[in-house]
Amino acid sequence: MKKAVLLFAMCAALAISFSLFASGPAEAPTGFDGLTNGLVVQDDMAAALVQFSEPEKAVPNGLGPLFNAVSCVDCHQSIADGGHSQIRELRAGHLDRHGNFVGAMITLNNGSKVGPRSLINQRAICPDAIGQLSPAENIRALRLSLPLFGDGFVEAVADEDLLKIAKHQRESTGGQIHGQAIFVDIAEVKGAKRIGRFGWKDQHASLLSFSSDAYLNEMGVTNQFAPDEVTKVCNPTSGIQDPNNVEDIDKFTTFMRALKAPPRDQTLASSLDAQIGADLFERIGCQTCHVNTLRTVPAGTKLNGENYVVSPAIGDKAFHPYGDFLLHDIGTGDGIVQNGPPNTRNKVRTMPLWGVRTRVEFLHDGRARDLFEAIRLHNEEAEEARERFNKLSQEEKARIITFLKSL
Ligand code: HEC
Ligand code: HEC
Repeated sequence: MKKAVLLFAMCAALAISFSLFASGPAEAPTGFDGLTNGLVVQDDMAAALVQFSEPEKAVPNGLGPLFNAVSCVDCHQSIADGGHSQIRELRAGHLDRHGNFVGAMITLNNGSKVGPRSLINQRAICPDAIGQLSPAENIRALRLSLPLFGDGFVEAVADEDLLKIAKHQRESTGGQIHGQAIFVDIAEVKGAKRIGRFGWKDQHASLLSFSSDAYLNEMGVTNQFAPDEVTKVCNPTSGIQDPNNVEDIDKFTTFMRALKAPPRDQTLASSLDAQIGADLFERIGCQTCHVNTLRTVPAGTKLNGENYVVSPAIGDKAFHPYGDFLLHDIGTGDGIVQNGPPNTRNKVRTMPLWGVRTRVEFLHDGRARDLFEAIRLHNEEAEEARERFNKLSQEEKARIITFLKSL
């Protein structure tokens, strides 16, 4: 080895060992292995998974009357428990005469009404409890289910950090890109609010709130924070609440918080193509929204209306979602307003790209069937980034795709 090369190698080795000892946040654990990220012991995660997977039955206070599937795992499984699925849910509504979105009113087969609500349940436990949309509910949208890997880390990102990203986007793009943060209710603490980060519309900030919402709206099971059935039709025991349902939503939450973040495909990630692709991805501005690194708050921080104390397994971690958890109009919007103000109607949360290699259909409704198509459909706030992508050579484009496939 020549002297200069040797010196360089030594410096490089030194730099690496320094970076190992430099005090920064530790990396969040990754894996599709079903093992706990350290939040709880493996047995407790396994017990929580039993609840997450258990099919509900239509016994008093169980499944329905209206629902979409019989267990959480039904819609959250691909690659491993807690993943995504091909299930699409239906949302609908219309604009009132002031131009504001209103969720649909459904007339059930027995004549009673449900709504206004934008979620249209696709299954019921009896024919009387189901009904069809009227033609007046002319805004209709489909939404794919989402993967839950790493969501415990997402929950533990400080609101201020999300606001900083939004500010940086406006400043660095002259306002063209302007991610919107919305404050949403924390179901478990009356009056508490945080920046929404879960769901295609950022409709929740807390995994416990999401569990309560999903238990009622996906499976028709009432619980402490969602005590009323969507309809009383075919539901003679309405009003009597099974106290176990409180424990159930705690278990769903524990399972989700204990999930590791999606792992990279290490072989592909270390290839030259993927590394050049990652640089290009940043250089053409994809990373302005698909932010690569976020950090969680320090362990011991109280979040979600001080109801949740962040444990050392979740706190002080760096993770790589390739998302900003903010709402944007990239021209794909579904026309539905959920927990945000009216201007969120055509906005969608930046889809985090971690784990994108495990998906087959892209964008909120799965309208894109390959990664090129997903990029091609980026308009409005993402138009300039898409144009810069279009101007790349075939080889450069392929390298960005290789990078995406390493995520
Ligand atoms: C019928 C299918 C279905 C069932 C059953 C279901 N989900 Fe979901 N889940 C979805 C869909 C669809 C979304 C995206 C929702 C949206 O934004 O409109 C989602 C999103 C989520 C998210 C947000 C993830 C993120 O990263 O933004 C969480 C958390 C979640 N579900 C938890 C649960 C839990 C807990 C259960 C069981 C109580 C459950 N889900 C049952 C379909 C389902
Ligand atoms: C202005 C913010 C913004 C920019 C810039 C941006 N994206 Fe996106 N991206 C989004 C949003 C929002 C979605 C989700 C849209 C939807 O589902 O309707 C998305 C979705 C995607 C998806 C689909 C992921 C999935 O699993 O469904 C891919 C792939 C993607 N973006 C790649 C890129 C690439 C490559 C670039 C750079 C050329 C880029 N994005 C630039 C906001 C952005």
